[in-house]
This record gives sequence, C-alpha cells and structure tokens, in this order.
Amino acid sequence: MKKQIIVGVTGGIACYKALDIVSKLKKRDMDVTVIMTKNAAEFVTPLSFETISQNAVIMDMFDSPDHWEVEHISLAKKADLFVIAPATANCIGKIANGICDDMLTTTIMATKKPVLFVPAMNSAMFENLIFQENVQKLEALGYSFMKPATGLLACGDIGIGKLPDPEEIVDYSCNLLFEIDKRKQDLVGRKILITAGPTIENIDPVRYITNHSSGKMGFALAEAAFERGSTVTLISGPVGLSCSKGIRRIDIGTTAELSEAVHDAFKDTDALIMAAAPSDYRVSSPSKEKMKKTHEDLILTFTENEDILASVGKIKGNKCLIGFAAETQDLIVHAVKKIERKNLDFIIANDVTQEGAGFSGDTNIITVIKSDGSIKSYPKMSKREVANIILDLLV
Ligand code: CTP
Repeated sequence: MKKQIIVGVTGGIACYKALDIVSKLKKRDMDVTVIMTKNAAEFVTPLSFETISQNAVIMDMFDSPDHWEVEHISLAKKADLFVIAPATANCIGKIANGICDDMLTTTIMATKKPVLFVPAMNSAMFENLIFQENVQKLEALGYSFMKPATGLLACGDIGIGKLPDPEEIVDYSCNLLFEIDKRKQDLVGRKILITAGPTIENIDPVRYITNHSSGKMGFALAEAAFERGSTVTLISGPVGLSCSKGIRRIDIGTTAELSEAVHDAFKDTDALIMAAAPSDYRVSSPSKEKMKKTHEDLILTFTENEDILASVGKIKGNKCLIGFAAETQDLIVHAVKKIERKNLDFIIANDVTQEGAGFSGDTNIITVIKSDGSIKSYPKMSKREVANIILDLLV
C-alpha cells in the first residue's frame, strides 16, 4: 500500500518550493494530500498543489463536506507522516501552545502520527528564544524537526533559516518513514521495567532531602517503549509528570520503597532500565516530630542506602540491565567502573554539567557504553529520541 503523506504548507516565501517537495514525494510513489493555510494560498494557488498532488487541497475548516467523515480527524488517522514545509514560526508557536485555529493546526493537534517540521524563516526569528523554546518543547513531545539551511535569505540577510533543498527534505522524510516502520511495534511481547525521578528521604515529618531529577528521561523511555508495543511498568519517584493509561505506574517515595518495588517487578520482566536517581543515603534516625530550631548548627547523620542496580545485577540471569551514570567529571572512567560494579549490559553516561544534558531539561547528550567496552557518543537530542536509541539496544 502506498504511504500516505500529508504535506502542510504555511505562509512563507519558501512556499513555492513545497510544490517541488510534493512532486518529488509523488515520484517516490507516495499518496500526497496538501493542507494549506490561508496565508500560504497568498503565495501559491491551491490549484498548483492540487494538480501536482492529484488530490484535493484542504484549506477551509468550514467547507461543506461531501462525505460523512470529519475531515481533520480522517486525515489525522490516514496519514503515515505529516511534513510541514515550510513551517513558519507562527504555525510552530501555535502547535507548541495548543492553539488550533485552522485546518492545518487542528489536524496536527488531532493526529498521533509522526510530524516533521521543516522551519523556514529569517535568522533572527529562528534564533529567537521564544521560537527555540517552542521547538524544544515539541521535540521533547516527540515531534521531529529538520534544521534549516544557511545562506542568502529572501529578506536579503545571510544566515540560518533557508528551507533545505526539496530533495533533502524528501530524503529526510523517507528515512523517517523507514525508521518508523522499523520501530513500529518491535517490542511486542517484551516486558520492560523502567524507573524514573528522584527519591526522597525524610528528615522529620515535614522535611526531606532529595535531588534534581525531573523524571523526564524515565517517562520518555516508558512512553517510547509503550509506543513500540512492550508491556511497561514505570516506577516513579515524586515528579509532576503523567503517563499513558496503558503503562502500569507505581509511585514510590524513598530508596527503600523503590528497591522493594524494583525487586518485586523484576521477577516478571525482560529488562530493567534504571533511569531513577535514588538517594544514596537516608537520614539515620528521622525525627518522629517536627524538629525545632536550636540556634546551633544542625548535624544530621546519614546511613548508606542499598545500591539497587548492583543488587539486581547479582540476580540478573539473562535479563538485560541498563543503568545511567550522571557525572560532573571523568565521565567515561566513572561510567566504566559502574558498568562493572553493577554487572550491567549497558550504561548511559551523561555529563550533567554540559548545556542540554541536565536533569530538568528536555534534551540529553549521551554516551552509550557496552559491557564489552565499546563506546558510542551521540549529539544533543530530545529525551524522546534518546529513549528510542536506548530501546534500540534492547531490540
Ligand atoms: N542506582 C541504584 N541505586 C542507588 C543509586 C544508584 O540503583 N542507590 C542506579 C541509578 O539509577 C543509575 C546507576 O545506579 O542507573 C548509577 O547511579 P549514580 O548515582 O550515577 O551512581 P552511584 O552508583 O550512586 O555512584 P556515585 O553516586 O558515587 O556516582
């Protein structure tokens, strides 16, 4: 069956190049439907797209439908891939903020299918932090972006922001489709246990110690594993995140609770990915009552917690164990020691001092180390993309 591509065209000067994109997709035997915004139609007529795509162009939400289906929902369902090219800052900003006021934004909001944005705009707009934050937010949610080209822009400036060559956009889209096909449901029948977030250790009934873990990496892993068909158990420390209904979620507080939940769930799992940041220590004797100020230095004594991964490592059998190593110095040296000490198959090392690799952000920069000593480093990516790379290790 032919792949169904929805090309979204928004109102930028690069619109005319979208005709070439549609033509090239057709030549690769894809069924292409174009959704245009009203602004895009000021640059290129819908008739041009209609002729090249050999499909009706969709523009108006309120056209009387000639069939019973609700158009934006049926398009959202039938697509294999959405390619928004050129994607203006306006369109990206609207999607990032949940605004759907035309056929294109409404359809993108209504789809669960992959969406590729190909932004094209003036360099200053592209570099604007508001725009970049919108991109980061969408990337973290699993939307894909192609980087614009650098060169002479329509406004006369030279810089980043040009729509890439249509051939490159079509290649990129085909690769994405290939990756999606490869990934589709490749974890069916696998049971994966994932931990996420920090743990908390009580000092007294109203105070505790914890760490900066946001849980975003573990949740991205859980969602990606679920999307790829596996049965997912997610054990999470206190975080403000929610997950898909099909994921079995267990909420814990302390490292001891995390340990109990992990050991219990590990019996019936094929792999454990330990993305949580358990506290290595607990307060030795937490106060039963709220502690009162004494006007003197406060000294707390801590007792070491169990190293959960190391203890699971002792009983892992042929199950797969993946750990994380968040370091601030000597990344590889520390990570390699951990892979040995905890009997892991893989460790995902990241230097948390690097911009874009921290706990709370939506991106990560990882180095994957295997138990055979091989090492592979990756550039900055969204946590969702990182999650898929980690799941590829399991496959
Ligand atoms: N981990 C664990 N139990 C702990 C502490 C950590 O299972 N009590 C897991 C983490 O989830 C992570 C890996 O071990 O997957 C490495 O955690 P990290 O905090 O980087 O290393 P530690 O072993 O705690 O060593 P250190 O804090 O000295 O770097």
